[in-house]
Amino acid sequence: MTEHEQLLAYAERLFCVEDAALQEIRALHEREQLPPIAVSAEEGKLVHVLLRATGARRVLEIGTLGGYSGAWIARALPAGGRLTTIEANPRHAAVARQSFVLAGVADRVELREGAALDVLPRLEPGYDAVFVDADKPPLERYYAEAVRLLRVGGLLLCDNAFFHARVLDTEDCEPDVAGVRAFNRLAAADPRVVATIVPVRDGLLVGVKMA
Ligand code: SAH
Ligand code: DHB
Ligand code: MG
Repeated sequence: MTEHEQLLAYAERLFCVEDAALQEIRALHEREQLPPIAVSAEEGKLVHVLLRATGARRVLEIGTLGGYSGAWIARALPAGGRLTTIEANPRHAAVARQSFVLAGVADRVELREGAALDVLPRLEPGYDAVFVDADKPPLERYYAEAVRLLRVGGLLLCDNAFFHARVLDTEDCEPDVAGVRAFNRLAAADPRVVATIVPVRDGLLVGVKMA
C-alpha cells in the first residue's frame, strides 16, 4: 500500500465503521446478487455527515439499488424527516424495502418504483438535498430536475463524477460518460450553483443551489 492508501485505510477504520444492520444489508446485496455498485462505507459516511451538517429533512435519491446508500441517508434525518428514493428495477426495489427494515428506517423512506424521468416531473420542489446515482446517459436531464427540485440553499450530490477515470479519455464518447461530463460541466458553470468534486471512491460531486 502507498502511504496515501494507508492514510485512507486509517480514516476508514476510524470513521467509516458499518454497524450490524449495514453489514447485513451488504450481505443481503450479495445473496441477492445485486450489482456491486453501491457507495462505499466512506462515501456513505461522507453523505451522512453532509446531510447532518446541513440539517437536511427532505432528501431525494435517484437510483436506490438495494438501499445501502439510502440507509446512510435515512439515518442522517432528524425525527419527521423523509427520504424519497426512485428505483426502476422491481427486484432492486424489493431488496431495498428489506434493507430499510433492517436499518430501522422503513417508516421514513418512500420508495417510488419507476423510471426516474417518469417520476421526477411529478415531484414538487422543496428538497433539502438530492443524491443522483442512477443511469448515466440522462444525467443532463437529472441535473435540470435536481436543481428544479432543490430549495435555495439545498445540497446537490452526484455519484461517479470521475466515472472510473473515463471522464479523462477524450476519445471515449459513449452516452454514459458523456452524461457524466455534461452533469459535471453544468454544475461547474451554472451561476445558480457552487460545486466541487470530492475525490472519494469514484468521485462525489457536492454542490449547493445558491439561487
Ligand atoms: N445509490 C445506490 C446505488 C445505485 S446503483 C447505493 O449506493 O446503494 C443505480 C441504480 O439505479 C440501479 O439499481 C438501477 O436499477 C437504477 N436505475 C437505472 N436506471 C434507472 C432509471 N432510469 N430510473 C430509476 N432507476 C434507475
Ligand atoms: C458503477 C458504479 C456506480 O456507483 C454506479 O452508480 C454505476 C455504475 C460501476 O462501477 O459500473
Ligand atoms: Mg454510483
